[in-house]
Amino acid sequence: MDKIRIEGPCRLRGRVRISGAKNAVLPEMAAALLVEGPVTLTNVPAVRDVETMAKVLRHLGLRDVALEGSLLRIGAGEPGEPEAPYALVKTMRASILVLGPLLARLGRARVSLPGGCAIGARPVDLHIEALRRMGATITIEHGYVVGSCRRLRGAEISFDKKTVTGTENLMMAACLAEGRTALENCALEPEIADLARFLNACGARVEGAGTGRIEVHGVPRLAGAEHRVIPDRIEAGTFVMAALATRSGITVEACEPAHLVAVVDKLKECGADLRVERDAIEVRPDGPLRAANVVTVPYPAFPTDLQAQYMALMTRAEGVSIITESVFENRLMHVGELRRMGARIVVDGQAAIVAGPSPLSGAPVMASDLRASACLIVAGLAAQGETTIDRAYHIDRGYERVERKFQELGARIERVRG
Ligand code: EPZ
Repeated sequence: MDKIRIEGPCRLRGRVRISGAKNAVLPEMAAALLVEGPVTLTNVPAVRDVETMAKVLRHLGLRDVALEGSLLRIGAGEPGEPEAPYALVKTMRASILVLGPLLARLGRARVSLPGGCAIGARPVDLHIEALRRMGATITIEHGYVVGSCRRLRGAEISFDKKTVTGTENLMMAACLAEGRTALENCALEPEIADLARFLNACGARVEGAGTGRIEVHGVPRLAGAEHRVIPDRIEAGTFVMAALATRSGITVEACEPAHLVAVVDKLKECGADLRVERDAIEVRPDGPLRAANVVTVPYPAFPTDLQAQYMALMTRAEGVSIITESVFENRLMHVGELRRMGARIVVDGQAAIVAGPSPLSGAPVMASDLRASACLIVAGLAAQGETTIDRAYHIDRGYERVERKFQELGARIERVRG
């Protein structure tokens, strides 16, 4: 099991290019199940979750699923056996995104329930309820979601809660349904609008993606298309916070600052000197940061996927900050690891109270999930001494060549093959 080893403190300098968004490319790969022609996705990040989704698509019978650098080709062809097995789904919850497309294209699906994960129960009841509204018969059998339908029918559906993959699953299912589907209380994340752009390039009729109300007019079939994946806003935010935590001046390029407005605003409230350009964010080393409170809520507000990294940064800020996680019920596990590095944090329910600045010292720590791993890298870069992060496979799920990118910025960071 690989580890990441960091010798801190590090001063970063130079430029880092942001990769394509994991959370945009995963639904777009699932959408390939809907189309009858070859698909080409560019700006695809070489991360483990993309490899896993490629395995799922191959298992479902799609041919020629091949990643060459940042170009992903998916051959034409109709899915064969519509089963996404537990062995694959348990390693990546986003596999649930094949459920809507399989029902829409084949009229049947057998997808393992993702089960919980480190950050919470992660139910998919909203996906299932909405698909039932479109005429699918869905039962849960032996840990699998088993669905069937003649042809999905358009429906008026309002989500009880904003769900990113729930919105994506239903948007995809509605593309081949009979008639019009209206989705209310949709999630607003940029990855949803990116998926809609790809679906429409394939001949779908999706309107309103990125707003709370999405309308889809079903069409008989979809053709393949080429699509460039949007930059990863969470990776970009991670590098900005790493620079601020180490009082470094770097430029984060090939990113989309428009997807990070709430994050940039919050960091400026902390006193960060950030220069925002069209596709780059320049971080200028400046004086000490001030503590500022954050509550994570669905887009466009401060994202839950940057909460852990922000907490690492707040250990370096002057004052007390209250960081409240309102999206997932168990996403504060990085607190224990940060405390082992000397951070002064107490947890009260879903809020973490951080007293800064607290000098961090390097330590052996354990990653619990993808974004907690990023938090520990930020902390290790700022800490005095050696930090080793165990279970580095978590970080590889969503960050491309993470140690290489930080090495190129001057960090003393390496991967230790375990
Ligand atoms: C997506 O997960 C992202 N994953 C997550 O990123 C991200 O943290 C999350 O959205 C929130 O922004 C992908 O896009 C692949 P939700 P998703 O459905 O869709 C509850 C990362 O680190 N809910 O928006 O699974 C749920 O429990 C990952 O890249 C139900 O109750 O999240 C949560 O409390 C982590 N029933 C809330 O809604 C449902 O049927 C939001 O979850 C679905 C969700």
